[in-house]
Amino acid sequence: MNNERLKEVLAAARHETAKVIIGQHDVIEKALICIFTGNHALIEGVPGVAKTLLVRTLAHVLGCDFARIQFTPDLMPADITGTSVFNLQRNEFSVVKGPVFTSFLLADEINRAPAKTQSALLQAMQERLVTIDRETHTLSPNFTVFATQNPIEYEGTYPLPEAQKDRFMLKITMRAPGRDEELTLATRTMTKESPEAMLASGAIQAVIKADDLVALREQIGAVVMREELVAYLVDIVRATRQHESILVGAGPRATQSLMMASRAYAAMSGRDFVTPDDIKSMAVPVLEHRIILRPEFEIEGLSVAEVIQQILEQIAVPR
Ligand SMILES: Nc1ncnc2c1ncn2[C@@H]1O[C@H](COP(=O)(O)OP(=O)(O)O)[C@@H](O)[C@H]1O
Ligand SMILES: [Mg+2]
Repeated sequence: MNNERLKEVLAAARHETAKVIIGQHDVIEKALICIFTGNHALIEGVPGVAKTLLVRTLAHVLGCDFARIQFTPDLMPADITGTSVFNLQRNEFSVVKGPVFTSFLLADEINRAPAKTQSALLQAMQERLVTIDRETHTLSPNFTVFATQNPIEYEGTYPLPEAQKDRFMLKITMRAPGRDEELTLATRTMTKESPEAMLASGAIQAVIKADDLVALREQIGAVVMREELVAYLVDIVRATRQHESILVGAGPRATQSLMMASRAYAAMSGRDFVTPDDIKSMAVPVLEHRIILRPEFEIEGLSVAEVIQQILEQIAVPR
Protein backbone atom coordinates (compact mmCIF):
# COMPACT_ATOMS: atom_id res chain seq x y z
CA MET A 1 0.00 0.00 0.00
CA ASN A 2 1.38 3.38 -0.90
CA ASN A 3 0.33 6.97 -0.92
CA GLU A 4 -0.73 6.98 -4.56
CA ARG A 5 -3.18 4.19 -3.85
CA LEU A 6 -4.56 6.15 -0.88
CA LYS A 7 -5.26 9.20 -3.03
CA GLU A 8 -6.74 7.04 -5.75
CA VAL A 9 -9.13 5.28 -3.35
CA LEU A 10 -10.18 8.54 -1.68
CA ALA A 11 -10.97 10.10 -5.06
CA ALA A 12 -12.87 7.02 -6.22
CA ALA A 13 -14.83 6.82 -2.95
CA ARG A 14 -15.91 10.44 -3.30
CA HIS A 15 -16.88 9.90 -6.91
CA GLU A 16 -18.98 6.78 -6.27
CA THR A 17 -20.68 8.27 -3.21
CA ALA A 18 -21.60 11.39 -5.20
CA LYS A 19 -23.55 9.21 -7.64
CA VAL A 20 -26.07 8.60 -4.84
CA ILE A 21 -25.75 11.63 -2.57
CA ILE A 22 -26.58 14.84 -4.42
CA GLY A 23 -24.40 17.78 -3.35
CA GLN A 24 -23.14 17.62 0.26
CA HIS A 25 -19.56 17.33 -1.04
CA ASP A 26 -18.01 18.71 2.13
CA VAL A 27 -20.07 16.25 4.18
CA ILE A 28 -18.84 13.28 2.13
CA GLU A 29 -15.27 14.56 2.51
CA LYS A 30 -15.53 14.89 6.28
CA ALA A 31 -17.12 11.47 6.67
CA LEU A 32 -14.26 9.92 4.68
CA ILE A 33 -11.75 11.78 6.85
CA CYS A 34 -13.23 10.18 9.97
CA ILE A 35 -13.23 6.72 8.39
CA PHE A 36 -9.70 6.96 7.04
CA THR A 37 -8.26 8.12 10.36
CA GLY A 38 -10.12 5.48 12.38
CA ASN A 39 -12.30 8.00 14.18
CA HIS A 40 -15.98 8.71 14.74
CA ALA A 41 -18.33 11.45 13.56
CA LEU A 42 -21.16 13.42 15.07
CA ILE A 43 -23.66 14.27 12.35
CA GLU A 44 -26.10 17.09 12.92
CA GLY A 45 -29.07 17.67 10.66
CA VAL A 46 -32.85 17.75 10.58
CA PRO A 47 -34.72 14.63 9.38
CA GLY A 48 -34.67 13.95 5.66
CA VAL A 49 -31.30 15.43 4.67
CA ALA A 50 -29.91 11.96 3.80
CA LYS A 51 -27.93 11.16 6.95
CA THR A 52 -28.94 7.50 6.82
CA LEU A 53 -28.46 7.27 3.08
CA LEU A 54 -24.97 8.77 3.39
CA VAL A 55 -23.74 6.16 5.86
CA ARG A 56 -25.34 3.28 3.93
CA THR A 57 -23.74 4.51 0.73
CA LEU A 58 -20.30 4.91 2.31
CA ALA A 59 -20.52 1.37 3.69
CA HIS A 60 -21.37 0.06 0.23
CA VAL A 61 -18.57 2.03 -1.46
CA LEU A 62 -15.93 0.96 1.06
CA GLY A 63 -16.99 -2.69 1.17
CA CYS A 64 -17.93 -2.47 4.85
CA ASP A 65 -20.93 -3.83 6.70
CA PHE A 66 -23.46 -1.47 8.17
CA ALA A 67 -25.87 -1.42 11.12
CA ARG A 68 -28.23 1.13 12.57
CA ILE A 69 -29.44 1.65 16.11
CA GLN A 70 -32.38 3.93 16.75
CA PHE A 71 -31.78 5.47 20.17
CA THR A 72 -34.91 5.69 22.33
CA PRO A 73 -35.55 6.50 26.02
CA ASP A 74 -35.92 2.78 26.85
CA LEU A 75 -32.81 1.57 24.99
CA MET A 76 -30.54 -0.41 27.33
CA PRO A 77 -26.74 -0.73 27.18
CA ALA A 78 -27.13 -4.43 26.32
CA ASP A 79 -29.23 -3.48 23.28
CA ILE A 80 -26.02 -1.97 21.91
CA THR A 81 -23.33 -4.35 23.07
CA GLY A 82 -25.16 -7.68 23.31
CA THR A 83 -26.03 -10.10 26.07
CA SER A 84 -25.61 -13.70 27.00
CA VAL A 85 -28.69 -15.87 26.87
CA PHE A 86 -29.32 -19.32 28.21
CA ASN A 87 -29.43 -21.94 25.50
CA LEU A 88 -31.80 -24.68 26.65
CA GLN A 89 -30.70 -27.28 24.11
CA ARG A 90 -27.05 -27.00 24.98
CA ASN A 91 -27.71 -26.25 28.62
CA GLU A 92 -25.29 -23.32 28.66
CA PHE A 93 -25.08 -19.57 28.21
CA SER A 94 -24.18 -18.27 24.78
CA VAL A 95 -23.37 -14.77 23.64
CA VAL A 96 -25.69 -12.87 21.35
CA LYS A 97 -23.63 -10.03 19.93
CA GLY A 98 -25.25 -6.62 19.67
CA PRO A 99 -25.28 -4.17 16.74
CA VAL A 100 -21.85 -2.71 17.64
CA PHE A 101 -20.36 -5.77 15.99
CA THR A 102 -20.28 -4.13 12.60
CA SER A 103 -18.01 -1.76 10.68
CA PHE A 104 -20.10 1.34 10.12
CA LEU A 105 -22.62 1.99 12.85
CA LEU A 106 -25.28 4.64 12.53
CA ALA A 107 -26.30 5.66 16.06
CA ASP A 108 -29.47 7.51 15.18
CA GLU A 109 -30.65 10.31 17.46
CA ILE A 110 -28.11 9.49 20.14
CA ASN A 111 -29.54 12.06 22.54
CA ARG A 112 -32.85 10.23 22.89
CA ALA A 113 -31.30 7.59 25.14
CA PRO A 114 -30.23 8.15 28.74
CA ALA A 115 -26.60 8.67 29.73
CA LYS A 116 -25.97 5.07 30.75
CA THR A 117 -26.84 3.80 27.28
CA GLN A 118 -24.88 6.55 25.57
CA SER A 119 -21.85 5.59 27.69
CA ALA A 120 -22.01 1.99 26.50
CA LEU A 121 -21.56 3.22 22.95
CA LEU A 122 -18.91 5.77 23.84
CA GLN A 123 -16.90 3.13 25.66
CA ALA A 124 -17.07 0.80 22.66
CA MET A 125 -15.92 3.69 20.44
CA GLN A 126 -12.99 4.46 22.66
CA GLU A 127 -11.74 0.96 23.39
CA ARG A 128 -12.95 -0.95 20.34
CA LEU A 129 -13.71 -3.69 22.83
CA VAL A 130 -16.95 -4.85 24.35
CA THR A 131 -17.42 -6.87 27.50
CA ILE A 132 -20.42 -9.18 27.60
CA ASP A 133 -20.86 -11.16 30.78
CA ARG A 134 -17.21 -10.71 31.78
CA GLU A 135 -15.98 -11.88 28.38
CA THR A 136 -14.16 -9.34 26.23
CA HIS A 137 -14.75 -9.17 22.49
CA THR A 138 -12.83 -7.17 19.89
CA LEU A 139 -14.70 -4.93 17.46
CA SER A 140 -13.98 -4.56 13.75
CA PRO A 141 -10.78 -2.58 12.98
CA ASN A 142 -12.98 -0.45 10.71
CA PHE A 143 -15.52 0.24 13.45
CA THR A 144 -16.73 3.78 12.84
CA VAL A 145 -19.67 5.39 14.61
CA PHE A 146 -21.80 8.03 12.95
CA ALA A 147 -23.98 9.44 15.70
CA THR A 148 -26.78 11.70 14.60
CA GLN A 149 -28.32 14.57 16.50
CA ASN A 150 -31.33 16.58 15.50
CA PRO A 151 -30.49 20.26 16.09
CA ILE A 152 -34.11 21.22 16.75
CA GLU A 153 -35.65 18.71 19.16
CA TYR A 154 -34.32 19.40 22.60
CA GLU A 155 -37.35 18.42 24.63
CA GLY A 156 -37.23 15.04 26.33
CA THR A 157 -33.68 14.42 25.18
CA TYR A 158 -30.37 13.83 26.88
CA PRO A 159 -27.76 16.14 25.34
CA LEU A 160 -24.28 14.62 25.21
CA PRO A 161 -21.98 16.21 27.80
CA GLU A 162 -18.99 18.04 26.26
CA ALA A 163 -16.64 15.44 27.70
CA GLN A 164 -18.45 12.82 25.64
CA LYS A 165 -18.63 14.90 22.49
CA ASP A 166 -14.83 15.12 22.69
CA ARG A 167 -14.73 11.45 21.59
CA PHE A 168 -16.02 12.41 18.17
CA MET A 169 -13.33 13.60 15.80
CA LEU A 170 -15.52 15.85 13.68
CA LYS A 171 -18.89 17.43 13.92
CA ILE A 172 -20.50 17.26 10.49
CA THR A 173 -23.40 19.58 9.81
CA MET A 174 -25.79 18.48 7.07
CA ARG A 175 -27.90 21.28 5.67
CA ALA A 176 -30.99 21.16 3.48
CA PRO A 177 -30.13 20.90 -0.23
CA GLY A 178 -29.73 24.03 -2.34
CA ARG A 179 -32.31 24.74 -5.05
CA ASP A 180 -30.29 23.13 -7.86
CA GLU A 181 -29.65 20.04 -5.76
CA GLU A 182 -33.30 19.76 -4.87
CA LEU A 183 -34.16 20.07 -8.56
CA THR A 184 -31.81 17.19 -9.33
CA LEU A 185 -33.38 15.15 -6.53
CA ALA A 186 -36.87 15.91 -7.84
CA THR A 187 -35.93 15.02 -11.41
CA ARG A 188 -34.37 11.71 -10.41
CA THR A 189 -37.33 10.68 -8.27
CA MET A 190 -39.11 7.58 -9.63
CA THR A 191 -36.36 6.96 -12.18
CA LYS A 192 -33.51 4.45 -12.27
CA GLU A 193 -31.30 7.26 -11.04
CA SER A 194 -33.13 7.88 -7.79
CA PRO A 195 -30.77 7.64 -4.80
CA GLU A 196 -32.38 4.42 -3.55
CA ALA A 197 -32.41 2.81 -7.00
CA MET A 198 -28.73 3.67 -7.55
CA LEU A 199 -27.79 2.07 -4.26
CA ALA A 200 -29.92 -1.04 -4.81
CA SER A 201 -29.10 -1.66 -8.47
CA GLY A 202 -25.36 -2.12 -8.11
CA ALA A 203 -24.79 0.98 -10.25
CA ILE A 204 -22.23 2.14 -7.72
CA GLN A 205 -19.12 0.14 -7.04
CA ALA A 206 -17.11 -0.77 -4.00
CA VAL A 207 -13.71 0.87 -4.48
CA ILE A 208 -11.88 -1.26 -1.92
CA LYS A 209 -12.27 -4.37 0.22
CA ALA A 210 -12.83 -3.91 3.94
CA ASP A 211 -9.59 -5.79 4.72
CA ASP A 212 -7.51 -3.44 2.58
CA LEU A 213 -9.01 -0.40 4.22
CA VAL A 214 -7.01 -1.04 7.40
CA ALA A 215 -3.67 -1.03 5.62
CA LEU A 216 -4.58 1.94 3.49
CA ARG A 217 -5.57 4.00 6.51
CA GLU A 218 -2.04 3.75 7.86
CA GLN A 219 -0.87 5.74 4.84
CA ILE A 220 -2.45 8.89 6.29
CA GLY A 221 0.44 8.93 8.79
CA ALA A 222 2.87 9.27 5.88
CA VAL A 223 1.44 12.66 4.89
CA VAL A 224 4.17 15.14 5.79
CA MET A 225 3.53 17.95 8.23
CA ARG A 226 6.27 20.55 8.79
CA GLU A 227 7.26 21.34 12.38
CA GLU A 228 6.08 24.95 12.06
CA LEU A 229 2.66 23.68 11.05
CA VAL A 230 2.45 21.37 14.04
CA ALA A 231 3.22 24.37 16.26
CA TYR A 232 0.62 26.46 14.40
CA LEU A 233 -1.99 23.77 15.00
CA VAL A 234 -1.14 23.42 18.69
CA ASP A 235 -1.38 27.20 19.11
CA ILE A 236 -4.85 27.24 17.52
CA VAL A 237 -6.17 24.64 19.97
CA ARG A 238 -4.48 26.32 22.94
CA ALA A 239 -5.97 29.68 21.99
CA THR A 240 -9.46 28.23 22.60
CA ARG A 241 -8.53 27.99 26.29
CA GLN A 242 -7.66 31.68 26.56
CA HIS A 243 -10.25 33.41 24.41
CA GLU A 244 -12.42 35.95 26.26
CA SER A 245 -15.68 34.59 24.82
CA ILE A 246 -14.95 30.96 25.67
CA LEU A 247 -15.89 29.33 28.97
CA VAL A 248 -14.48 25.87 28.24
CA GLY A 249 -11.87 25.40 25.53
CA ALA A 250 -10.84 22.30 23.61
CA GLY A 251 -8.71 19.60 25.26
CA PRO A 252 -5.68 17.69 23.95
CA ARG A 253 -7.90 15.22 22.05
CA ALA A 254 -8.73 18.17 19.81
CA THR A 255 -5.02 18.60 19.05
CA GLN A 256 -4.70 14.96 18.06
CA SER A 257 -7.88 15.13 16.01
CA LEU A 258 -6.73 18.25 14.18
CA MET A 259 -3.40 16.56 13.37
CA MET A 260 -5.16 13.54 11.89
CA ALA A 261 -7.90 15.48 10.12
CA SER A 262 -5.44 17.92 8.50
CA ARG A 263 -3.36 15.06 7.13
CA ALA A 264 -6.40 13.23 5.80
CA TYR A 265 -7.69 16.45 4.26
CA ALA A 266 -4.35 16.94 2.49
CA ALA A 267 -4.51 13.38 1.11
CA MET A 268 -8.09 14.04 0.01
CA SER A 269 -6.82 17.04 -1.95
CA GLY A 270 -4.27 14.77 -3.62
CA ARG A 271 -1.24 16.06 -1.72
CA ASP A 272 1.49 14.30 0.32
CA PHE A 273 1.99 17.29 2.61
CA VAL A 274 -0.14 19.49 4.84
CA THR A 275 -0.63 23.22 4.14
CA PRO A 276 -1.89 25.90 6.57
CA ASP A 277 -5.19 25.91 4.65
CA ASP A 278 -5.73 22.23 5.42
CA ILE A 279 -5.48 23.04 9.13
CA LYS A 280 -7.79 26.06 8.76
CA SER A 281 -10.35 24.00 6.87
CA MET A 282 -10.46 21.38 9.60
CA ALA A 283 -10.40 23.78 12.58
CA VAL A 284 -14.17 24.39 12.77
CA PRO A 285 -15.34 20.76 12.33
CA VAL A 286 -12.72 19.56 14.85
CA LEU A 287 -13.25 22.27 17.46
CA GLU A 288 -16.87 23.38 17.20
CA HIS A 289 -18.47 20.68 19.38
CA ARG A 290 -15.75 20.83 22.05
CA ILE A 291 -16.08 24.50 22.98
CA ILE A 292 -18.58 26.14 25.34
CA LEU A 293 -19.10 29.89 25.04
CA ARG A 294 -19.59 32.16 28.01
CA PRO A 295 -23.36 32.64 28.42
CA GLU A 296 -23.19 36.42 27.97
CA PHE A 297 -21.59 35.99 24.52
CA GLU A 298 -23.99 33.24 23.57
CA ILE A 299 -26.93 35.50 24.42
CA GLU A 300 -25.45 38.15 22.13
CA GLY A 301 -25.80 35.62 19.31
CA LEU A 302 -22.11 34.84 18.85
CA SER A 303 -21.51 31.34 17.46
CA VAL A 304 -18.65 28.97 18.25
CA ALA A 305 -17.73 28.86 14.56
CA GLU A 306 -17.35 32.66 14.56
CA VAL A 307 -15.08 32.54 17.59
CA ILE A 308 -12.90 29.91 15.91
CA GLN A 309 -12.66 32.18 12.86
CA GLN A 310 -11.51 35.03 15.15
CA ILE A 311 -8.82 32.77 16.57
CA LEU A 312 -7.66 31.77 13.07
CA GLU A 313 -7.37 35.45 12.15
CA GLN A 314 -5.32 36.22 15.26
CA ILE A 315 -2.66 33.53 14.92
CA ALA A 316 0.15 34.19 12.46
CA VAL A 317 0.29 31.64 9.66
CA PRO A 318 3.76 30.11 9.28
CA ARG A 319 5.35 30.77 5.89
N1 LIG B 1 -28.63 15.22 -0.82
C1 LIG B 1 -29.39 14.17 -1.13
N2 LIG B 1 -28.96 13.26 -2.02
C2 LIG B 1 -29.72 12.20 -2.34
N3 LIG B 1 -30.90 11.93 -1.79
C3 LIG B 1 -31.40 12.78 -0.88
C4 LIG B 1 -30.66 13.94 -0.50
N4 LIG B 1 -31.38 14.60 0.42
C5 LIG B 1 -32.50 13.88 0.62
N5 LIG B 1 -32.53 12.78 -0.17
C6 LIG B 1 -33.63 11.80 -0.24
O1 LIG B 1 -34.31 11.84 1.00
C7 LIG B 1 -34.33 10.53 1.60
C8 LIG B 1 -34.28 10.66 3.10
O2 LIG B 1 -32.99 10.47 3.53
P1 LIG B 1 -32.58 9.77 4.90
O3 LIG B 1 -31.21 9.27 4.68
O4 LIG B 1 -33.58 8.80 5.37
O5 LIG B 1 -32.59 11.07 5.83
P2 LIG B 1 -32.27 11.24 7.36
O6 LIG B 1 -31.58 9.99 7.81
O7 LIG B 1 -31.39 12.45 7.40
O8 LIG B 1 -33.57 11.48 8.01
C9 LIG B 1 -33.17 9.81 0.96
O9 LIG B 1 -33.34 8.44 1.01
C10 LIG B 1 -33.21 10.37 -0.45
O10 LIG B 1 -34.18 9.75 -1.25
MG1 LIG C 1 -32.31 8.65 9.18
